[in-house]
Amino acid sequence: MNKCENHIYIIFGATGDLTKRKLLPALFSLYVQKLLPNKFILLGVSRSQLSDEDFRNKTKSALEGFRETDDLTKIDDFIMNVFYNSIDFDDLNSYKKLKKRINKLQNEYSIESNIIFYLSTPPSLYGTIPVHLSSVGLNNQTDGWKRLIIEKPFGYDYGSAINLKNLLLESWEEEQIYRIDHYLGKETVQNLLVTRFSNGIFEPLWNRNFIHHVEITSAESIGVEQRGGYYDTSGALRDMVQNHLMQIVGLVGMEPPSSLEPVAIRNEILKVLQSIRRFTEEDVKQNCIRGQYLSAKIKDEIVAGYREEKGVRQNTYSETFIALKLYIDNWRWGKVPFYIRTGKRLPLRVTEIVIHFKETPHFLFSYNKSHNQCNQLVIRIQPDEGVLLNIGMKIPGSGFEVQNVNMDFHYSDLTSLRIPSAYERLLYDAIKGDSTLFARTDEVLESWKILAPIIDCWKNGNDIPLYGYPAGTWGPLIADELIEGKNMKWRYPCRNLSNDGIYCEL
Ligand code: BG6
Repeated sequence: MNKCENHIYIIFGATGDLTKRKLLPALFSLYVQKLLPNKFILLGVSRSQLSDEDFRNKTKSALEGFRETDDLTKIDDFIMNVFYNSIDFDDLNSYKKLKKRINKLQNEYSIESNIIFYLSTPPSLYGTIPVHLSSVGLNNQTDGWKRLIIEKPFGYDYGSAINLKNLLLESWEEEQIYRIDHYLGKETVQNLLVTRFSNGIFEPLWNRNFIHHVEITSAESIGVEQRGGYYDTSGALRDMVQNHLMQIVGLVGMEPPSSLEPVAIRNEILKVLQSIRRFTEEDVKQNCIRGQYLSAKIKDEIVAGYREEKGVRQNTYSETFIALKLYIDNWRWGKVPFYIRTGKRLPLRVTEIVIHFKETPHFLFSYNKSHNQCNQLVIRIQPDEGVLLNIGMKIPGSGFEVQNVNMDFHYSDLTSLRIPSAYERLLYDAIKGDSTLFARTDEVLESWKILAPIIDCWKNGNDIPLYGYPAGTWGPLIADELIEGKNMKWRYPCRNLSNDGIYCEL
């Protein structure tokens, strides 16, 4: 456990976009940092008929596009470890041939029988591939470990997630399965644990007595780009909330774990998810706003509306924006609302957590207009990773006028340190056998269970509107009304942008 041992790294879906954009650069970066073991082979597996040479060239051009120039010389060395094997995913014989190829590589390069299988394929293959691998004995750990890394989505809803779980657990042990949620690989998401549990000053305040509400925003300025086909079957709830944002809620809301062991942390996250109040139909109507972006002009350029995007159905009701209010019904969080929003084609790319503390019990001072009497702790996940504490300070001069100021830490100030990419961190952890930052089956299922009523209500119609918002705005205006309380509103991370979203039903 937690050692970096010689192994073969097999990527199913090796010619896909994720492999090119994330997996290859992450593995190469580990290689450059000498974090890969002495003996390491990367075997790309996909439907396309390619030779080792072809795949090496593809790898090379992917890496050249993503690395700084001074690393270019190392690419040629790296690709000498790269091989390719084409496959028919549905044909058992193909897996027998794959096994032979693996054995041949192991013998030729004297590599132990440790293997990582990374499924970077369409989710429809998440059952097929592991079952076929086990049919040919490639799940067998007697001669070396075998690990299965699966990309999201883990199922399409609660029922399909259960089916997938049952199918996988028929032939694989839970400990062999690494469900990747790349948000957990982000340095600043992990820093949440450190912020909370390495500082004596926050934990005593981290509860219903001092916190008024919690806000979690994950905004993207891009649209669905080339992924319209996938996204239209998913929507923002499945794409972002079920996995990334629920894990963040878990980390913000959890009790201190007894240790940093994977089981201790995952147990605490699970308890938070189990405590989230179940949505009734009425809650879905009141506390859950969905939207879809409309064509608009952004910086002199007309961008397409969601329904005009390639691969998207013309009259689709898939949401590209969602804002939710939820409650964690336990002693720590009783009656503290958690507001969550995510969307595509919002004004900028930003993910942040804002802890809004309660106001002081008695107002001694006069406040200028911009003063907010509630302190805020902003944990910026990306970009400009860092932590900001907003506090009141005296304006110099006579009297006691107060103004908000920021104590602001930027990761970029730690100039000597490079922030590893999320995939780099997670791929490395899986190689070491550390599953702390991967989602466990019960967490995944719990998250689907929480969202099931929303999915059902939307599916059944139930008079739940889908609001349009012009691309480049902060989503439907009505989402602002979710946040209750005097002077309470979403934090708009870019100050001079107001929300011009229109209030129309699609
Ligand atoms: C992915 C979603 O999981 O996360 C994408 O499928 C989304 O739709 C992406 O764009 C966002 O990741 P990040 O790291 O850019 O915030």
